[in-house]
Amino acid sequence: MRDSLENKIPYIHFKDVSFSYPINKENLILKCNFSIKKPGFWMIVGKNGSGKSTLLKLINGIIKPQNGIVDSKANIGMVFQNPDHQILMPNCRSELLLNINQNISCYEITQRIEYVLDQVGLSGFEKRPVHTLSGGQKQRLTIACALISNRNFILLDEPTALLDQTSQLKVLKTIKNLTSDKKNPLSALWITHRYEELNYADAVAELKNGFLSSWQKPSNFHYN
Ligand SMILES: Nc1ncnc2c1ncn2[C@@H]1O[C@H](COP(=O)(O)OP(=O)(O)OP(=O)(O)O)[C@@H](O)[C@H]1O
Ligand SMILES: [Mg+2]
Repeated sequence: MRDSLENKIPYIHFKDVSFSYPINKENLILKCNFSIKKPGFWMIVGKNGSGKSTLLKLINGIIKPQNGIVDSKANIGMVFQNPDHQILMPNCRSELLLNINQNISCYEITQRIEYVLDQVGLSGFEKRPVHTLSGGQKQRLTIACALISNRNFILLDEPTALLDQTSQLKVLKTIKNLTSDKKNPLSALWITHRYEELNYADAVAELKNGFLSSWQKPSNFHYN
């Protein structure tokens, strides 16, 4: 599925990054330092309003820091917290087509669409109009779009927030499989509020007071 991805290992590096929104003088992100230099399943937790979504927007360049350096070499895909902020097309197939950034045959396109829809538990939804999808189904469609986009680094902002337990587990296992693929592992950075999800991570960190803690193994991680 991902055999045509760039072979280079993607990385992200934050050096003393500070950021505040114009209407708020206080720094939301303050001298934040971290790196993700190898593929795997990376997870971040933090309280409501601690700046998790803002951190992802800094990583993919939607916003720029006032101070510090965001250095990244990665082909980044993004799953936003609210799927309605992301979906543009009228049905599942056309939304997925919009995210295929490769020149491949019609046959291969159909195969990939079927594969990613199955990975998120939406088999048979190809022709479904987006306006008929539930919130959780829309969320799964945006994850399928990230998978089909052939990126090597995916940012997922609370991707299971609208999902029931069955769909949550399916999506978690899909990302886990892709990030632990022996030949061509994906890098995924996943924001969550659901602590049971941390067990799937290779490394976990907490965003607090504008600062990201060091990466910990899930078994050593204690949330303050
Ligand atoms: N465009 C914006 N302009 C001004 N303030 C903003 C903007 N976006 C977010 N904020 C504020 O920045 C703070 C952090 O927001 P952010 O969405 O990054 O937090 P979060 O950790 O993702 O929260 P949640 O857990 O609720 O998703 C909040 O106080 C929010 O109101
Ligand atoms: Mg958020």
